[in-house]
Amino acid sequence: MKRIILVALLIFTLASSQLTLAKDNQLMAQATLPTGEEFYIGAHRGASAYAPENTIAAFELAIEMRSDYIELDVHETKDNVLVAIHDDTVDRTTNGSGKVGEMKISEIKELDAGSWFNETYPDHSNESYIDEKVPTLEEVFRKFGRATNYIIELKTRGIEKRVLDLLQQYKLLEENGRSNCIIIQSFDKESLQIIHSQNKSIPLFQLLKHPIIGKGTDKELKEIKKYAIGIGPNIDRITKQYVEEVRKYNLFIHPYTVDKKKEMKRVIDWGVSGFMTNYPEHGKKVLQ
Ligand code: G3P
Ligand code: CA
Repeated sequence: MKRIILVALLIFTLASSQLTLAKDNQLMAQATLPTGEEFYIGAHRGASAYAPENTIAAFELAIEMRSDYIELDVHETKDNVLVAIHDDTVDRTTNGSGKVGEMKISEIKELDAGSWFNETYPDHSNESYIDEKVPTLEEVFRKFGRATNYIIELKTRGIEKRVLDLLQQYKLLEENGRSNCIIIQSFDKESLQIIHSQNKSIPLFQLLKHPIIGKGTDKELKEIKKYAIGIGPNIDRITKQYVEEVRKYNLFIHPYTVDKKKEMKRVIDWGVSGFMTNYPEHGKKVLQ
């Protein structure tokens, strides 16, 4: 009798794990990577080792360096304009000061978003960067359109619909046989879930400063898989074993920020699907 119960229990456990797997695969099937490439390199804030981050100059250079994606950070101004800037203030990357969300776009447009770079990184300084402007997301899309792929990082809650509307307006979403040109990522799970509830075919990545390693990995990945197709963890916090675990879940994984060639080679060996780097041309060389 005991044996029959044990066998029945085993069959039940096996059947339910198959069901979970099928459900996971179904979720996975809802979004794919835009590039369809086996491996991709994202230029972190543009080619930000060589040009002021999150500016048209940095994005142009990233495209020139044949990055598969340009990664950019999005905040919103007081008058609801989406802008490419990393911090929630303009202090570090312009000659001004103040919170992005408390400034009008006209005020932000007066600022010089390039000279700080020349002063901080004299080895890569370039006169043409002087008076580079903080671009709006719309300006970025207008300039590059579908000539590149974008990894758009939502830096502030509440901008999801505006981002989606702009993507639609510039025809960057999957539609009528045209593929997606974008990945949306965020550290903010709720922002991603808002996007997911609006459009299930957009590839979403959950950024993780502190991915759970060891006990709890499963639980975290299962939860993420409900709305995202991949994760973007901090390179300093992951291990080979962790990457393997993530891949077993059929999740994509692109760590940030992978700048040294040695690190690039290591994470490629570990089986990541891509990485974010300030040095996209190094990445391309490593892949050759
Ligand atoms: O791709 C991930 C990375 O961009 C997240 O970090 O601070 O550079 O936006 P951060
Ligand atoms: Ca970012």
